[in-house]
Amino acid sequence: MKYVMGIDLGTSGVKVILVDENGKVCSEASKPYRLIQEEPGYCEQQPEDWVKQTIAAMKELMEKLPDHSREVEGISFSGQMHGLVLLNESRQVLRPAILWNDTRTTAQCTHITKRLGDRLQKITKNRALEGFTLPKLLWIKEHEPHIDQQIDMFLLPKDYVRFRLTGALHCDYSDAAGTLMFNIGDSEWSEEICQAFDIPRHICPPLVTSEAEVGPLLPQIAREVGIKEGAKVFAGGADNACGAIGAGIVSSDRTLCSIGTSGVILSYEEDHERELQGNLHLFHHAKKDAFYTMGVTLSAGYSLNWIKGLLAPEESFQSLLEGAANITPGAKGLLFTPYLVGERTPHADSSIRGSFIGLDSRHERAHVVRAVLEGITFSLNESIALFRQAGKNINSIVSIGGGARSRTWLQMQADIFQAEVIQLDNEQGPALGAAMLAAVGCGWYPSLDACADLLIHQTAIYEPKQQHANVYADLFPLYQRIYTQTRDIHAGLEPYRSV
Ligand code: XUL
Repeated sequence: MKYVMGIDLGTSGVKVILVDENGKVCSEASKPYRLIQEEPGYCEQQPEDWVKQTIAAMKELMEKLPDHSREVEGISFSGQMHGLVLLNESRQVLRPAILWNDTRTTAQCTHITKRLGDRLQKITKNRALEGFTLPKLLWIKEHEPHIDQQIDMFLLPKDYVRFRLTGALHCDYSDAAGTLMFNIGDSEWSEEICQAFDIPRHICPPLVTSEAEVGPLLPQIAREVGIKEGAKVFAGGADNACGAIGAGIVSSDRTLCSIGTSGVILSYEEDHERELQGNLHLFHHAKKDAFYTMGVTLSAGYSLNWIKGLLAPEESFQSLLEGAANITPGAKGLLFTPYLVGERTPHADSSIRGSFIGLDSRHERAHVVRAVLEGITFSLNESIALFRQAGKNINSIVSIGGGARSRTWLQMQADIFQAEVIQLDNEQGPALGAAMLAAVGCGWYPSLDACADLLIHQTAIYEPKQQHANVYADLFPLYQRIYTQTRDIHAGLEPYRSV
């Protein structure tokens, strides 16, 4: 039997899956790594941890297979977006990677916006937001000039791991699009942006498509993990692009809700012409010549993890959510905003923080958990509202990730989004998208569309329950008011966060 391997380098850990020639996901392995948060708003990771844990997960996966069937024909990647990995001339990592959810770069974002004005949106199709890569590079220039002087190349997270597995340096279009240094119309690094900020063009890695074959797995890695030598490695894509591929979002009018550490609402686009409001992003897809628009809630699954850690560290997510299932919509008048590390869409604001509004002595743990689930879903609904304002028809949404593992949460999505919500059979998220890129690269399927038709199956459809949808339609404008009404309070609290 031949296999392809999909590697998803997430924020909390790496997940590796094997898909066989029949398109069946036959096994998976995951390994965690740590987050380094030395100052409020800082979020870093050690690239070496990614490499070590990726190799360990690959090895564990291969050990599950009998010896004779260790023929992995192709491997591809999905990865957390925007993170900055810096290399010197001898390809050593210069400092820990600064991640997508690190919010230290507000001043750099203001500078980028002032310096480039309308040109930024024209070239990149995006605004300057703390999570993106360019503001991180400018922060290094300003605060760590001794590191800046040594930079010979920057890489995105999965591109660094792929470099260590193949020896080849590349970046694919879907990840390049999230750097704020990429000209989306020309599919090239932007000379204009590099010049404006004095960034030597040579530090930008060579660009390739997500399907591009970028080299064989290094023989010593193949030996270490137990794969036959010669496995082909394909570039892969940004985690949201790969999540979309793995959920069949490969043609027009397809929309995705993906809840991992962050939560995204993502919608397929044929071209890059759509005019967007309110901090929606437009990026290259991992499917060739396609694009997607996207809104991001920074702390989606992260908010649920946080409340579980506080209220029920020993319990399973399942039992925590079962309690919330018995609570009526609206959690007895309790609203939550999931701004634990600031927010991205619709409010790009790194100093906003979360709130519980309406706490009452009759509230029990289950009300609090229900309010957290509802708050995360309201936040995602703000992105859907922006898409609808931009003229997109959103009647059907595929749900993946944490939000798709609970019937209560799936029904809540249908009720709040006022759209049918589709659950997939054996949903594997971005790792499946990465494996599909490898399968198409190996010639197993003529196209990603054909591969998606064969591999992705719906298992259930959740329709909005009118009574619940009406309650949520009443609560949503109240939820939306919390941002404007608490913004000043949160800004006033900012100095106390580091005490
Ligand atoms: C997208 C974003 C996050 C990360 C999570 O813009 O910042 O969804 O990709 O890995």
